[in-house]
Amino acid sequence: MGIWWWRLILVSLAGILFSPKHGASQRVTGMKYTFMKNASSAPSVSYYEYEYIVIGGGTAGCPLAATLSEKHKVLVLERGPSPYGNPNITNLDAFGAALSDTSPNSPSQRFISQDGVINSRARVLGGGSCLNAGFYTRASPYYVREAGWDGKLVKKSYEWVERVVAFEPIVRQWQSAVRGGLLEVGVLPYNGFTFDHIRGTKVGGTIFDQHGHRHTAADLLEYANPTQLTVLLQATVSKILFTNKGSRSRPVASGVIFMDALGREHRVYLKQGPKSEIIVSAGALGSPQLLMLSGIGAERELRKHNIDVVLNQPLVGQGMSDNPMNAIFVPSPVPVEVSLIEVVGITNVGSYIEAASGQMFTSRSPRDYGMFSPKIGQFSKLPPKQRSPEAVAKAIEKMGMLEPAAFRGGFILEKIMGPISTGELQLETSDPNDNPSVSFNYFKDPRDLRRCVQGIRTIEKVIESKAFSRFRYHNMSASVLLNMTANSPVNLLPKHSNTATSLEQFCRDTVMTIWHYHGGCQVGRVVDARYKVIGVDALRVIDGSTFNCSPGTNPQATVMMLGRYMGVKILRERLAGAETE
Ligand SMILES: Cc1cc2nc3c(=O)[nH]c(=O)nc-3n(C[C@H](O)[C@H](O)[C@H](O)COP(=O)(O)OP(=O)(O)OC[C@H]3O[C@@H](n4cnc5c(N)ncnc54)[C@H](O)[C@@H]3O)c2cc1C
Ligand SMILES: *[C@@H]1O[C@H](CO)[C@@H](O)[C@H](O)[C@H]1NC(C)=O
Ligand SMILES: *[C@@H]1O[C@H](CO)[C@@H](O)[C@H](O)[C@H]1NC(C)=O
Ligand SMILES: *[C@@H]1O[C@H](CO)[C@@H](O)[C@H](O)[C@H]1NC(C)=O
Ligand SMILES: *[C@@H]1O[C@H](CO)[C@@H](O)[C@H](O)[C@H]1NC(C)=O
Repeated sequence: MGIWWWRLILVSLAGILFSPKHGASQRVTGMKYTFMKNASSAPSVSYYEYEYIVIGGGTAGCPLAATLSEKHKVLVLERGPSPYGNPNITNLDAFGAALSDTSPNSPSQRFISQDGVINSRARVLGGGSCLNAGFYTRASPYYVREAGWDGKLVKKSYEWVERVVAFEPIVRQWQSAVRGGLLEVGVLPYNGFTFDHIRGTKVGGTIFDQHGHRHTAADLLEYANPTQLTVLLQATVSKILFTNKGSRSRPVASGVIFMDALGREHRVYLKQGPKSEIIVSAGALGSPQLLMLSGIGAERELRKHNIDVVLNQPLVGQGMSDNPMNAIFVPSPVPVEVSLIEVVGITNVGSYIEAASGQMFTSRSPRDYGMFSPKIGQFSKLPPKQRSPEAVAKAIEKMGMLEPAAFRGGFILEKIMGPISTGELQLETSDPNDNPSVSFNYFKDPRDLRRCVQGIRTIEKVIESKAFSRFRYHNMSASVLLNMTANSPVNLLPKHSNTATSLEQFCRDTVMTIWHYHGGCQVGRVVDARYKVIGVDALRVIDGSTFNCSPGTNPQATVMMLGRYMGVKILRERLAGAETE
């Protein structure tokens, strides 16, 4: 095949599973708030000071803690460092830098699901909002009703979040062309710029401001009462402690054990009283993992790891889902802007079309594909078994030497709503620093597969639309472009003879993550409607692990909203003197 850029692309989708270690990388401290402290400076035991201990200062944990601190003493225990002063987090065009840093101090921790898809979880104050592509968009009114939330408070809580972290993107030419294409192929009506989830095509919000600077959930700590909040960084919780364990009454969460960066153990006990609580906001992997490590899970599994059983609860870690993402790369004959997600097509078949363009990582020398970079594990050149460290290093070098034209272009992607398919999470070890094992079973349910196929069909039409025509080579049809993606190794998945000819097979073989994984502590199964862990007292879970489906087209707005919403709910419950169940 003599097409110059075809070769270019295949060479440049260079296979990298593990990027090299970064020896003397300088670690930033960034103690922006007076209430942020290093866990190693904490006492080894602390008694009865805090009414709330929030485990995980992530996307939900930060707004939750800020809200609770309005009235009460709150401790946040976050295993990662501060995001402040780290350019890999702050700058839009550094997207992917943190995700490709696989060192133990990286703000992202890589994991590979049993499905063979390479994925990442946050390990930094602000959580996933420090790593993500920034798209900010609310859940639909239908979702809010189904969740049983109070619509008025939901609206107020979104607004509280938006005042600090949400912006209108400057939509440039390439994103405009995608928007034009979506409208031309009938993803209608055009809803302009809005945070709302409405069928049709829209420009959504972003947590990047107009200078390309990221604003994260950690910024919501600006709302906190600094005299009532303490945030300990590099504090990895290994266990929640219970009283009444073994006796006939229900177990009551009363304290936690955490480790600092030097591996020293600390204990902290809640202030005694019926209203004090521990709230787990450790994310969709971290929350079910920590419940299990603390003795809440399937008895048989816990016993395998010598964990004392507090509550036999086999639903912990069940209902894990990740919305599959599939994409087509479209090389462009003309320069394109660097953009993450700005425009979305909300189709009436349950697939959401989004797009990202340009060469990320411009601040570091290697040329790269941003959201689809081989360095973060999405695309590759080498089949999994050939990805030795040497091959990987060579591939990085080669990628850095390619002509800029190889990176000119963008990805049009689709993710499906839901999804309906689910998997499960299990402990691998009893070390809280290790990843649990998790499966998502992408496309196990045929309805998920159908939505993907319909999404890919829409993308093909957008590529061939008039509105998009400036940004593609005319001798390359959409099916040829699809064939290119079908022929590139994606994740650790094998290819089939019909990967390029059957859209069903294409969906299965080129599935990536859009990092919207959720579940594991779902409402109605592990927690009740007030997010209290069923079967024990003084313990809630509030974060993405409680979702049954991913909200909106992208979840972060709703995760932050939920942190604020539940913070307000808890304050109100106390004012109303509501009984703790
Ligand atoms: C690369 C990427 C791109 C994405 N793009 C978008 C997007 O464009 N738009 C969008 O809406 N969503 C996006 N998302 C999804 C969104 O960011 C997540 O759904 C959301 O951040 C999850 O929030 P959470 O509070 O559930 O978990 P997290 O934000 O992950 O918070 C969990 C926190 O708990 C901490 N923790 C875990 N275990 C422990 C422990 N044992 N002790 C102490 N602390 C612990 C973690 O360090 C982390 O800070 C993206 C995500 C990623 C990773
Ligand atoms: C916290 O303290 C540990 C141990 O002293 C140190 O290694 C780490 O760099 C400190 N972190 C910050 C953010 O200062
Ligand atoms: C930023 O990312 C690069 C590439 O992944 C890494 O080498 C560097 O150490 C990171 N810098 C910080 C401050 O984390
Ligand atoms: C397609 O167009 C590009 C740029 O004009 C050219 O380099 C390439 O050879 C063409 N490919 C085919 C198959 O005609
Ligand atoms: C797809 O790519 C393969 C491998 O390069 C090639 O044999 C096949 O002809 C291509 N099909 C189309 C439709 O371009």
